[in-house]
Amino acid sequence: MGAAVAIAPLRNDPSYGQVLAREFTMVTAENAMKFGPIHPERARYAFTDADAIVDFAQANGMKIRGHALVWHQQVPSWLTDGGFSRDELLTILRDHIMTVAGRFSGKIAAWDVVNEAVEDPSRGGGLRRTVWSNTLGPQYLDMTFRWAREADPQARLFYNEYGGEGLGPKSDAVYALVRESVGRGVPVQGVGLQMHLNLDSPPNVQGIAANIQRLTALGLEVQITELDVRIREPITGDKLAAQARVYRDVAQACMAVQKCAAIILWGFTDRHSWIPGFFPGFGGGSIFDAAYQPKPAYLSLAQALGGR
Ligand code: XIL
Repeated sequence: MGAAVAIAPLRNDPSYGQVLAREFTMVTAENAMKFGPIHPERARYAFTDADAIVDFAQANGMKIRGHALVWHQQVPSWLTDGGFSRDELLTILRDHIMTVAGRFSGKIAAWDVVNEAVEDPSRGGGLRRTVWSNTLGPQYLDMTFRWAREADPQARLFYNEYGGEGLGPKSDAVYALVRESVGRGVPVQGVGLQMHLNLDSPPNVQGIAANIQRLTALGLEVQITELDVRIREPITGDKLAAQARVYRDVAQACMAVQKCAAIILWGFTDRHSWIPGFFPGFGGGSIFDAAYQPKPAYLSLAQALGGR
């Protein structure tokens, strides 16, 4: 059971680290290991924040998920505006993976090697057009996984995606992508289902369970990597109760499958949450409130996990 960690509250808000260490056994870096933050100039890496999260996890006996080696967002402008050739970009990407995954080699339980490479069905589907796919072609996926394996022989290597949690065209595309990758001998070992949910449109849990089943039937591990359930303001008792049921349902769907091995919350307290900034009019997505008090979702989640 894990949570994404933001560096500012980890440094500045003592309660944040206390609750994190008390309640969770795994952390992931909300931003600190992404390409832009960790590799801000071509010849300079910035490891301070990522190191602080790794140190915190190790000091508290927690596992660590690395997030994410290749993504189309939070990419530095030196890279997107660099006008690099295919060969140059291959060199840059390999160096990045070797340096970042190499630095934390042996410390990371699972890496999100590739994040969100599949385009939304509403935008035509297929492989998302990004700085990576446009310049390197679709082969960049296999290369990325192979370099990650070389840089960190121990981490479990994940493909991570949003909006493909239940059954549908996007999860079909993710399923096909990882099945074909496994068939080619690419070292992908797991699929991360992000699970950023909106209480206005609760998920079909049977679909999620079926998708987890078919992915694990490929021999892959599944993790729920970025669970949150945002609520449209105003937040009422009824909505908090409904939110609790969604957290419970998702946890039960994961718990029912042995190879669904982890659930990571994308933030654990409404005090420090990406939701209000990214989804105006929404909030309250976490299991702890802004005063670090457990919400109904905390209890329902704990019950689904077999605890208190
Ligand atoms: C988000 C962070 O929570 C924000 O702080 C940041 O400004 C943007 O990215 N999918 C992902 C995560 O894989 O990395 C994103 O995290 C949320 C969506």
